[in-house]
Amino acid sequence: MAIQLGDVAPDFTADTTEGTVGFHEWLGTGWGVLFSHPKDFTPVCTTELGTVAKLKDEFAKRNTKVIAVSVDPLESHERWIGDINETQHTTVNFPIIADPERKVADLYGMIHPNASDTMTVRSVFVIGPDKKVKLTITYPAATGRNFNEILRVIDSLQLTAGYSVATPANWVNGEDVIIVPAVSDEAAKEKFPKGWEAKKPYLRITPQPNI
Ligand code: BEZ
Repeated sequence: MAIQLGDVAPDFTADTTEGTVGFHEWLGTGWGVLFSHPKDFTPVCTTELGTVAKLKDEFAKRNTKVIAVSVDPLESHERWIGDINETQHTTVNFPIIADPERKVADLYGMIHPNASDTMTVRSVFVIGPDKKVKLTITYPAATGRNFNEILRVIDSLQLTAGYSVATPANWVNGEDVIIVPAVSDEAAKEKFPKGWEAKKPYLRITPQPNI
């Protein structure tokens, strides 16, 4: 069965461009992003990995480690990193898992045979400090991901993990949020001292509580 939200992210040991990684141990106590790319030496993947390298500080600010995977071997990854660094004007600064036997790809259901039975789709798994899967996204091979969206989602996940709030459509960090319906008005008075605007009894808008 496909990995679902709330499942413990399957653990594995794999060779990567930064040495052997035991996934859960590597995650440590912070957040993690595991993302697949279909194939080395392909154009969209080259731009994606360069983009993630440039966002290192943004992921670090969110106490989040990133790790990529593809079904190509380590030697291929190592040669390709040179191209990524050259063409994307950056230095790849996160591990890329070599998965020629598709152990990680199969464990995480990253091969969708009706799309391709040789390449992974573009999967994203965001994993919380409890090692549970908080978010999954699947893109097809021809569509590069928006990694600013992944940062935005991590902001929402981290905020909603700590406060009884949800984030509305197109929310970005710093904007007003929604008090979850499970919190009564009485409890909300204590939890949200800045107050709220009730557009409907179930739609209560409050300033982001952690700023
Ligand atoms: C790419 O990364 O450009 C790509 C990879 C597989 C299929 C299509 C595009």
